[in-house]
Amino acid sequence: MDKAQQDALKKAAGIEAAKLIENGMIAGLGTGSTVRFLVDELGRRVREEGLEFTGVTTSRRTQEQAESYGIKIVDIDDVDHIDITIDGADEVDANFNGIKGGGAALLWEKIVAVNSDKIVWIVDESKVVDVIGKFPLPVEVIPFGAAHVIERFEKRGYKPVLRLDAEGKPVRTDENNYVVDLHLERIDDPAELAEDLINTVGVVEHGLFLNMVDEVIVGNPDGPKKLF
Ligand code: 5RP
Repeated sequence: MDKAQQDALKKAAGIEAAKLIENGMIAGLGTGSTVRFLVDELGRRVREEGLEFTGVTTSRRTQEQAESYGIKIVDIDDVDHIDITIDGADEVDANFNGIKGGGAALLWEKIVAVNSDKIVWIVDESKVVDVIGKFPLPVEVIPFGAAHVIERFEKRGYKPVLRLDAEGKPVRTDENNYVVDLHLERIDDPAELAEDLINTVGVVEHGLFLNMVDEVIVGNPDGPKKLF
């Protein structure tokens, strides 16, 4: 599948998911190229259909895009609940376990997700896998002592790589932390790995989203479909 085909599937999934947002809702808006299509469509609905809803965003990038369409964005601590969150994912398996954080927004994404009544992911069909882990697992790490955390990951055989930007500087998250990508190839016991990562001092959060999502909308060449 080339990029144009993949983008067409992402767009179709985003447009389909935008139908889930209704007047008066508080909606979590994820991050990434698939979510960009979702927000474009929500912007269209606000402009052309008079849709009115409040958004809570998972990154400054999504906030900027949403506000450019006149979508009202509030701080997560200014709402008492989130009706639904729609986000992308890097991989998802048949048990609805997934990897997120390809766009370095995993921490805010997980905080928004755990405070949402319903979580929907939008992906193209290439993201649906038998076993997660081929996509490098992002881990958000505090800069102080990060080299020691990376060394610890190396000793455990996690094949860590500090994520760098185009200038060779460490990528910074919206919380100013680093991202370390674990090149594991396959994750046979995601729950055990999640437990190990979250108990490592210096780790803020990891990109394993286990059994959190309620619905996955998959962009296929014959139209967007729910996963199972
Ligand atoms: C950002 C994420 C994204 O949702 C994930 O990387 C998918 O991105 P895209 O839709 O661009 O493929 O987790 O941190």
